[in-house]
Amino acid sequence: MTIAKQTLAQHHPENMMKAFIVDRYGSKTGLRFGEVPIPEPREDEVLVQVHAAGVNLLDTKVTSGEFKLILPYRLPFVMGHDVAGVVVKVGAQVRQFKVGDEVYSRPDDFRIGAFAEYIAIRESSLAPKPKALTMEEAASIPLVGLTAWQALVEKAKLKKGQRVFIQAGSGGVGTFAIQLAKHLGATVATTTSTANVGLVKSLHADVVIDYKKQDFENILRDYDVVLNSQDGKTLNKSLRVLKGGGKLISISGPPDPEFAKEIGAPWFVKLFARVLSASIRRKAKRRGINFSFLFMKAAGDQLREITRLIDAGNIHPVVDRVFPFESTNEAMAYVETGRAKGKVVVKIK
Ligand SMILES: NC(=O)c1ccc[n+]([C@@H]2O[C@H](COP(=O)([O-])OP(=O)(O)OC[C@H]3O[C@@H](n4cnc5c(N)ncnc54)[C@H](OP(=O)(O)O)[C@@H]3O)[C@@H](O)[C@H]2O)c1
Repeated sequence: MTIAKQTLAQHHPENMMKAFIVDRYGSKTGLRFGEVPIPEPREDEVLVQVHAAGVNLLDTKVTSGEFKLILPYRLPFVMGHDVAGVVVKVGAQVRQFKVGDEVYSRPDDFRIGAFAEYIAIRESSLAPKPKALTMEEAASIPLVGLTAWQALVEKAKLKKGQRVFIQAGSGGVGTFAIQLAKHLGATVATTTSTANVGLVKSLHADVVIDYKKQDFENILRDYDVVLNSQDGKTLNKSLRVLKGGGKLISISGPPDPEFAKEIGAPWFVKLFARVLSASIRRKAKRRGINFSFLFMKAAGDQLREITRLIDAGNIHPVVDRVFPFESTNEAMAYVETGRAKGKVVVKIK
């Protein structure tokens, strides 16, 4: 192992670090700002000094306990799913990264913890940080970028000339997904409120629907793909804008049996997913539409593709607000309002 001992020793004589911790689910006071040991990277991991961490609704959902069936974390643990920083130590089997490299990542589930001064991340979940971006901009990308990639490239196999409806174009996922879909050559429709019409137009969305004034189901017809990120009512309405053979990909539920199988969930979670998704699966089948639930995964190889797109100027980060490290709970509360325009980031170093 290569160890940047000096860096660690300067700031943390006892190898402790500051972090935002989940002590118990659903705490009214939010995350606890405390001290925990600096994680020790495993053989296939690197230790990253965190410069900035992106904030996601997933952070608030895991903190509240809403996700404990799908992601059964052992308490206590450090929160945070998006990171940009510098490699300070590498495990014996790590080949592609070295001390001093600027990187970004959506770490693996059960190895999260970006709201901290250091995090250990699997090499396979890491990618070089896009060169032109600041650490704060880079930290805004991985989770939403990979979500958009896995929905539009991996699942939908979106092609030039196809039509895609991306809901909530002004949100974290939406701002990235619009740019990715445009890069792939698709025609993009999106929804947003009056205040954010200018923002989604600046991302080159082709059809902009102000959901305060119009209903998308009266406007859109014969779409190839819908990326659903809203409630059950919106999910049902989405069926009506798709053509036969179209794809309805939901990132806001309900989980389906395929997903439960993929994560190796216990039988009762599989049953739960089957029951929760029964209605939408039935309705989709009747219309010849392919419904699937997506829960994004860490993937360094896909993140490298995203780095290439950003370095080539095809995709730009949209950062709404940057909070200081100490205000991580406030940053999460802001994201939870559902009004963020693009991404919210915490500056750590
Ligand atoms: N399954 C997965 O892997 C995965 C991954 C990422 C996210 N998600 C989920 O996907 C959803 C979106 O995530 P996100 O990070 O993009 O959220 P976000 O950034 O917090 O979304 C905020 C945006 O949503 C817009 N919005 C709110 N209500 C809307 C509506 N009825 N119609 C259209 N736009 C609306 C808001 O615009 P206005 O202020 O203009 O209303 C705001 O700009 C969340 O439920 C999140 O948990 C799932």
